[in-house]
Amino acid sequence: MFKMRRICHLIFRLLFLLDGGVWSLRNVSISVPRGVLSGEGQAAVLRCSYDLEGAALYSIRWYRAETEFYRYVPREMPPTLVFPLPGASVDLTQSDAQQVRIVNLHRRLSGEYQCEVSADAPLFHTDIRAAPLTVVDPPFRAPRLAISRGSYARGDVIRANCSVDEAYPAPNISWILDDHTIAESVTWQNPEDFRERGAFSQLALTVLEGAAYKVGLVHTSAALNHYSSQYPLHDDDEHGVLRYGLAAPLAGQFALRCAARIFDVYERRSEAVVVREDAPHPASVTREDSSGAARAPVNIGWTWCAVTLALCIARAS
Ligand SMILES: *[C@@H]1O[C@H](CO)[C@@H](O)[C@H](O)[C@H]1NC(C)=O
Ligand SMILES: *[C@@H]1O[C@H](CO)[C@@H](O)[C@H](O)[C@H]1NC(C)=O
Ligand SMILES: *[C@@H]1O[C@H](CO)[C@@H](O)[C@H](O)[C@H]1NC(C)=O
Repeated sequence: MFKMRRICHLIFRLLFLLDGGVWSLRNVSISVPRGVLSGEGQAAVLRCSYDLEGAALYSIRWYRAETEFYRYVPREMPPTLVFPLPGASVDLTQSDAQQVRIVNLHRRLSGEYQCEVSADAPLFHTDIRAAPLTVVDPPFRAPRLAISRGSYARGDVIRANCSVDEAYPAPNISWILDDHTIAESVTWQNPEDFRERGAFSQLALTVLEGAAYKVGLVHTSAALNHYSSQYPLHDDDEHGVLRYGLAAPLAGQFALRCAARIFDVYERRSEAVVVREDAPHPASVTREDSSGAARAPVNIGWTWCAVTLALCIARAS
């Protein structure tokens, strides 16, 4: 009997070698939302997928910052085991060998989450994957926009400030001009520090003097030519101010607003502020009129020329 088992085992190993490593664990991957809102009723589903290639599953273990909080062992009864996770609870009704659902999270539970998969005998292959999760405490109010002037003349610089209440993590702020996002300021934060922080962004918008619209050109993002949209210019005294050059809009006005965003779980916009041109720009009005008027005689001239030429040819033949 003992001999039989040894032979069996040898055959088993030989088959395994011939097959080039079947029953190994492959393609372990983790899927964790980047951000989830904190508090009562909020939940995050963390998923772990893997390919056991025919082997049996021995265990799935989930860790937050190296501390195990959930284990699934199919051989045990019941197969699930939960360890205390201060600041959240595991929802056992929706947790199994593929996922774990955690509810009512506190922002201190932000951090690295890991899933460890172990295959059963004979090889006990084990693999582990990690991904970050941030538990978000959003700002209480919408972002607030302050603007240096409510009207403009060409060549003016309009200054705007956008401020956002404290939040964890500090939100990114983007600037929206007539529905086009023109600039963004990104806030960086040490992930180990769970303090709430406010955010602030300053914009200097120059209404370009020479860049008059061509007749018929619509107000699209292509017409919003900018010289520095993504990153602040590092001027000595104007450190961190975003700059943007705007061709004077045809409509004689534009709307500006800012938005605060935290990953894809929070976005709120300020009220829009409409900034109008001081007075109709006389130069642009006459330029448009005169160009229209100038084109007519040229067209008549060409028509006259063509007709005359035709008459000449007709008479000559
Ligand atoms: C598993 O990984 C292999 C390569 O390592 C890849 O070719 C295959 O598409 C993956 N399968 C799945 C289901 O992701
Ligand atoms: C924007 O904030 C700066 C710095 O706090 C301040 O000096 C400036 O007056 C503010 N501008 C507006 C338009 O509120
Ligand atoms: C802010 O933007 C940066 C760059 O796009 C991104 O990596 C970061 O996750 C964003 N932060 C938040 C809180 O949304």
